[in-house]
Formats: sequence, C-alpha cells, structure tokens
Amino acid sequence: MTERVHALEGAPVLVIGAGIMGAGIAQVAAQAGHPVRLFDARPGAAASARGKLTATFDNLVAKGRMLRDVADATLTRIVPIDDIDAAADVALVVEAIVEDLDVKRSLLRDLEARVGADCVLASNTSSLSITAMSQGMQHPGRLVGMHFFNPVPLMQLVEIVSGLRSDPAVAEAVHALATRWGKAPVHARSTPGFIVNRIARPYYAETLELLQIGAATPRQLDACLRGAGFRMGPCELMDLIGHDTNFAVTHAVYTANFFDKRFKPSLVQRELVDAGWLGRKSGHGFYDYGQGIVVPTADAFDPLPIAAFVPPGVNPVVAGRGPVAERLATALHGEGFGVERNTAVDWVGLVVGDAQLRLTDGRRAGALGAEVAVFDLPLTDAAFATLAWAASPGASRAWCDAAPQWLRILGFTPQRIADVPGLVVARTVAMLINEAADAVQQGVCTEDGADTAMKLGVNYPAGPFAWLAAWNPHAVVSLLDALDASERGERYRVSPWLRQRAESTRLANLKGA
Ligand code: NAI
Repeated sequence: MTERVHALEGAPVLVIGAGIMGAGIAQVAAQAGHPVRLFDARPGAAASARGKLTATFDNLVAKGRMLRDVADATLTRIVPIDDIDAAADVALVVEAIVEDLDVKRSLLRDLEARVGADCVLASNTSSLSITAMSQGMQHPGRLVGMHFFNPVPLMQLVEIVSGLRSDPAVAEAVHALATRWGKAPVHARSTPGFIVNRIARPYYAETLELLQIGAATPRQLDACLRGAGFRMGPCELMDLIGHDTNFAVTHAVYTANFFDKRFKPSLVQRELVDAGWLGRKSGHGFYDYGQGIVVPTADAFDPLPIAAFVPPGVNPVVAGRGPVAERLATALHGEGFGVERNTAVDWVGLVVGDAQLRLTDGRRAGALGAEVAVFDLPLTDAAFATLAWAASPGASRAWCDAAPQWLRILGFTPQRIADVPGLVVARTVAMLINEAADAVQQGVCTEDGADTAMKLGVNYPAGPFAWLAAWNPHAVVSLLDALDASERGERYRVSPWLRQRAESTRLANLKGA
C-alpha cells in the first residue's frame, strides 16, 4: 500500500472526459502539482476545456486572487492529448465521461490494454455501481470510485467508493491522494447513491410527500427548513438542481434498491418534469423565475400583546424535560412570566389553562386531544426562526389564535400548516437520520463519514449523527414509529441500527440514574 501511495504522489495523471467534471478534476490535480493529460473523445474538447481554464485563471490573476506564476505553472501542467497512448506512463486515470455503464466498461477494458499494470483507475460516476463497472477487467482490484462534487475546485468532499472487488490498499491510496489535493475524502461502499445521494433522498421526499397531501405550500416548506439552518429549502434546491436530474437520481436509487418504497419517486415531481418545469434552468419549477431568483419567505405574522391571550388567573406551565423544555422556560422567564414547571409528563411543551402547545412526537395534534396545538422541532437556537405548527381539528378559535402568539413569545416565527404527523423539520430530520443509520448498518460508511459527507457534499448545517446526539434516539424512533403507524407503508420503517441505539441509550440512562 505504501508503495502505491508513493507511486501516486506527484505522478502523471490522465483525466478522460473534458466536460464540467473532468475539467475541474484536471485543474485540482494540476494545482496539486501533478502533470495532467486531458483526453476527450470529442475532437478539440480537451483543448477548449484548457482554454476556458486559462480565461478563469486570467480573471483570478486580474482580481489579485491568484499569482501569475502559479496560474502559468498550473496551466503548463495540463496537456490536452488526442490519443490515450500518449498517456501510457500515468499512475492514475480518472474517468469523467458520459454516465453509461457499457461505455464506461468498454473504456476501462481498453485502458487496461494501454496503461501499466500498477496504474490505478478511478471513476467519477455519480450513480453507477463500481462492482458492475469492474466486470470484464483483468485487474478489477485497481478500480475505485472517486466521486467529486460540482464545482470540483470548490467542493471539498470526494467519496472514495469501493466495489466488491476493489483492493482496499488502492482505496486507501486514493483517499490519501485526495487529502493531498486539499479535499475531504470519505470512504464509501458501492451501493446505490453511495453516501450523499442516498442519505439526502428524504430531504426532497418528505417535502414532496407533504406537497402531495396538500399539507403546506413550497414557500412554507422552504421557509421552515431554512429556519432549521439548511442553506436552501428543498423546493428551491430541487429547482436549482433541475427536476429532471433530481427525479432521475431518485428513480435510479429506487430501481437499484429493487423498488423499496422508502425511495419511491413522487408524482408531484413527475408532473413538473412532464410539464417541462425543470426549475431555474427552464425559468419555472416550483417557483416562477421570470423576475429573477426567488428567496422563499414565511407567511406574514402579526405579533399581538400576549396579555390578551392569557386567561385571568392562569399561569403558563412548561411541561416535560430536556433542551426544548429548558428553552421554553428561559424564554418565558425572559418575557417576565413566573415560570411553573411540570416534569412529571412524558411530553414537552406549554400548558395554558386547559390548552396544550406540544412539541411534535410524530402524532397529529388531533390524535392528542381537542384543545391541542403541536409545534415542530427547533433545530437551531436562532432567534425567531420559522417554525411549523398545527392545530387539532377540535381546537377552539381562541386557542388557534393564541398558540402562534405563544410560539412568538417563545422565540419563533410561527407558520401554520395542516395537522400532519411529524410536521416538517422533525419528520425530515428523523428520516435523514434513519437513512444514515441504515447506511452505517450496511457498511456503506461510518458515522463520521456520513456527517462529513452531508456537511461538505450538500452543505447541511450538521450531520445526521450530530443531530441524533443532540436530539435523542428514543424520540427519533418514537416519531418514526408514529409516522409508520399513521402512514401504514414501508416508507417509515425504523432502521434496526437506530432502534438498537435507542435501546442501548435508554439502558445506559437507566444504569446511570
Ligand atoms: P459532461 O457531459 O459535461 O462531460 C462528459 C465529457 O465526456 C464530454 O466532453 C464528452 O465528449 C466526453 N466523453 C463522452 N464519452 C467519452 C468517451 N467514451 N471517451 C472519452 N470522452 C468521452 O458530463 P459531466 O457532468 O462532466 O459528467 C461526467 C461524469 O461525472 C459522469 O459520470 C457524471 O455522472 C459524473 N458526475 C457529474 C456531476 C455533475 O454535477 N455534473 C457530479 C458528480 C459526478
């Protein structure tokens, strides 16, 4: 293994495919000091990619963000070639050609006949199986996935994907190389979607499901998930990615998992694709981009003096324990209320007279009683972040008016949606955790690997296991079980890993108590 690491360091690299990804990979390898040959089947494409890079570097130099001699040295290292035989001496080939299994397989077989026996072969595929791709190769152990993210020079994450026959020493060597290229590599096993494209599915799927059942509007859902610290809401993000691409990835993961309902694509998205409403690139998706980029905002909310909503002689009581209960107590104290506590109940929230405002546990407000409203999981400490809430169908008009005012007093911007199980953030984050738990159980990645991949690959504010640690495995499992009971499908089945984690945490707490 050490030999291979040394062999790759600074060694000549061949990049095949000079499109958006190949050009970026060539740039990153050249910036790390490797001589790079760039090949593309389309005549002139490699030279044109180098030309574009020259223009980008000239621009950076003009703005003082790159030194002229660094730009020149990097560009000198990138040599467009029109014949792969001109790269027979390379130690590493990274292919970034068309996403087609047969074409990639035939390229790999062809490459083996031209490069040295020790040459490492890496594929930038985003969806194909590395195991399947290695079929027909003489030395399948030398093939790994090197899945970069777009734009390659800016995105730190690289998934180093091992197929069944990949040599672990090769995966380690490529991992070490990616680190030297200034990237944050994470090992992944070749399974559909690898890490990021698999664990991220519920981010889109839960929103699409909520849209399908008419629970909220795209603007409301985006505002709630932005309120939870995500840089973009799911609808605006799908509009940016393109619904054709996002639907194709979902469909590929669904098909590759033998039609597991957990990954089922959405009719809502299918309609958008059928309409040609592909998102920003076509000028219309969930939003209309005729007037430029849309920043989704929550519905307007008018805060009113809370005194009007407190029945005479009644003091609000904070129910339950844990960080959210503490946060509610602190907020009420800050507003000048004498804070009463009731830690004997097994739920978290606020009691005002006969009415309850409860943190969602996955059950609908209507399942909890008449004078009940539920609110979503606050994922960040940000003041006045948008937070979904819903009222029981039996709630009085007075409580429906009062509940959002209390949420405002507690430090949130309330956003009313339909009374659906797990509201918006709680169900989305629980499902992201659940998917990550399955990925870890199936040996796709480690807990740290999943957290790093989701933070660096899709800019999540935290990784699924960091959320799990801050939340509580038992609450996540209960919420998913409640969703499962309500939906009665395969979608919300709890990962055995997660259920076990909840049990072991509960037992450890009992011992500690
Ligand atoms: P692209 O269409 O921009 O570039 C592909 C290039 O490969 C084209 O210049 C084409 O002429 C060339 N090509 C096609 N077949 C070839 C062959 N047999 N031999 C040599 N050159 C050939 O595509 P893009 O977006 O750069 O994607 C390339 C690969 O990277 C695909 O496997 C894709 O799934 C993967 N990928 C793409 C990402 C993206 O955001 N675009 C992200 C991560 C991975």
